[in-house]
Amino acid sequence: NQCYSCTTCKSADKPLECYIAGLPMETSHHRVEGQSVKCGFGLQGVCCRLCSNGPCRITPEAPHGICGASADVIVARNFLRAVAAGSGCYIHVVETTALNLKETALSGGALKGMNALEHLCQLFAIPQGDPHTRAAAVAQAVLDDLYLPDYTPMKLQQKLSYGPRLAKWNELGILPGGAKSEVCAGVVKCSTNLNSDPTDMLLHCLKLGISTGVYGLMLTNLLNDVMLGEPEITPAPVGLGVIDPDYINIMITGHQHSIFVHLQEQLKKPEVQELAKAAGARGFRLVGCTCVGQDLQLRGVHYQDIFSGHAGNNYTSEAVLATGAIDAVLSEFNCTLPGIEPICDRLNIRQICLDDVAKKQNAELKPFVFEDRERISREILEEILESYKNRRARVPLNLLPEHGNTNTITGVSEVSLKKFLGGSWKPLIDLIASGDIKGIAGVVGCSNLTAGGHDVLTVELTRELIARDILVLTAGCSSGGLENCGLMTPEAARLAGPKLRAVCESLGIPPVLNFGPCLAIGRLEMVATELAQALNVDIPQLPLVLSAAQWLEEQALADGAFGLALGLPLHLGLPPFITGSSLVTKILTEDMKALTGGQVIVNSHAGESADILEQIIMDKRQALNI
Ligand code: SF4
Ligand code: FE2
Repeated sequence: NQCYSCTTCKSADKPLECYIAGLPMETSHHRVEGQSVKCGFGLQGVCCRLCSNGPCRITPEAPHGICGASADVIVARNFLRAVAAGSGCYIHVVETTALNLKETALSGGALKGMNALEHLCQLFAIPQGDPHTRAAAVAQAVLDDLYLPDYTPMKLQQKLSYGPRLAKWNELGILPGGAKSEVCAGVVKCSTNLNSDPTDMLLHCLKLGISTGVYGLMLTNLLNDVMLGEPEITPAPVGLGVIDPDYINIMITGHQHSIFVHLQEQLKKPEVQELAKAAGARGFRLVGCTCVGQDLQLRGVHYQDIFSGHAGNNYTSEAVLATGAIDAVLSEFNCTLPGIEPICDRLNIRQICLDDVAKKQNAELKPFVFEDRERISREILEEILESYKNRRARVPLNLLPEHGNTNTITGVSEVSLKKFLGGSWKPLIDLIASGDIKGIAGVVGCSNLTAGGHDVLTVELTRELIARDILVLTAGCSSGGLENCGLMTPEAARLAGPKLRAVCESLGIPPVLNFGPCLAIGRLEMVATELAQALNVDIPQLPLVLSAAQWLEEQALADGAFGLALGLPLHLGLPPFITGSSLVTKILTEDMKALTGGQVIVNSHAGESADILEQIIMDKRQALNI
């Protein structure tokens, strides 16, 4: 039942591709063709509409905008604007998370991750004492840093970043001040007739990359670990097959898992599950979608009775809804596509939005307010119950029950992986030194529909990398695609090169390790730091590369800026709207190597990209004499 020659939709996930092509409603996949003629100026980043003299578009005949801005200036402004917006998104996520941890701690609520709390308290030098008091102090320290002015360097970055990197960032003058202020400063810098120095604007992107990475990525994970429970390695079901129509199914989308803390605890209560049973269902279940689903999957051992599994990534969400078995969508951040709204309307699916930054036009806004959590959770559950009762008899099911697999290895984190290895990174370092693992690639970020199709480049590149004995670590919607395509099951070891295959088979692990949401790019950074520390080298010296093969959003560009600040090679399948400027392109792809050690590599071909990344790994191995 697989259609390999589909013209409507292209996905690495063939059963999904076939399912979407046969749907009676439009999805993002159906709209790709109608948007296939791209604006050449937009693609190159040389369209400016910062003032009423524009839009100005740069051509060989008209190399400057009316104000005199060159292609370099216009491209750099557009790029900085995107990175600042992306950084703002992640900083919103960590702010919400810190606020929720603070409120939870101050109200004496459950704290599930005592090891994570201890780790943070040691890092932040918070004295021993009552766990709730300490957790509140941790959260407050994060908030205090986020709210500093842009001229005062944030304090926690000193404690969280690797020494040699800190020294490099200091030398380059890119240590960020307060994260929110830095977003503001970045937006100001690229407004009309302000900064016209592309290099300065790109350095600001690195600054935003650091605040995004250290706070939005690393700290969000650790704060969530305290509230929601620490990841533990475990097999789990994935794909549309996790959806059981006998349950009242609640699809979650977004990135702010802490918003669901109270609701998840309510769902665990027998009396709440009884409400679903009284309505004729077997109970309430959360169905994971996008990164917040990945985050729940990561902590799945703590939520087994109320979590069906992770169904899919951003461009799988429409298909999840189209099954007809979802009774409500709870969203709180991106990647909640506008395209889900007509599907929800058509299938009478209740849409509730828990954060106004991601308010959908057709959704009810029910902002999460900690003091009102009892009322909010009760009302949400009542509405979902009503939705189930009203819609199930009227809406036909269109399931894809065989989709996905039941043994994806999940719950990998910087802590659980090290524990799995026996409490130290030495076994991994030894395998890298011996060449059994040639190097490590972080395949991270989103999925898009343009780099060959949904998850196509991500999956093909990953297959190429593991075939070259390169271990792949993933975080983001890329994980959702890779797991649904079976690359995170232990059986996927057979797709790896002979050396990596032998390693995986002896350890019983897949060649692609699933760190979960895009936020977990911060966890990959923690792994990289610990490896560098163990080897007494700086991060750029590690045989470690990054690929955001199918980057989608402005947030991904902020993540990418963090990767560059760390000094890592960063592969992208599509250029980030910079090719109209030879200067910006040169700085990002070449000059960056001398600045931070990082570099952008743009290539949309999986085999070629893998060759380039493998060569970089080999060069780094040689420099380390291994
Ligand atoms: Fe044109 Fe300059 Fe105005 Fe941009 S800011 S639209 S380049 S005149
Ligand atoms: Fe994400």
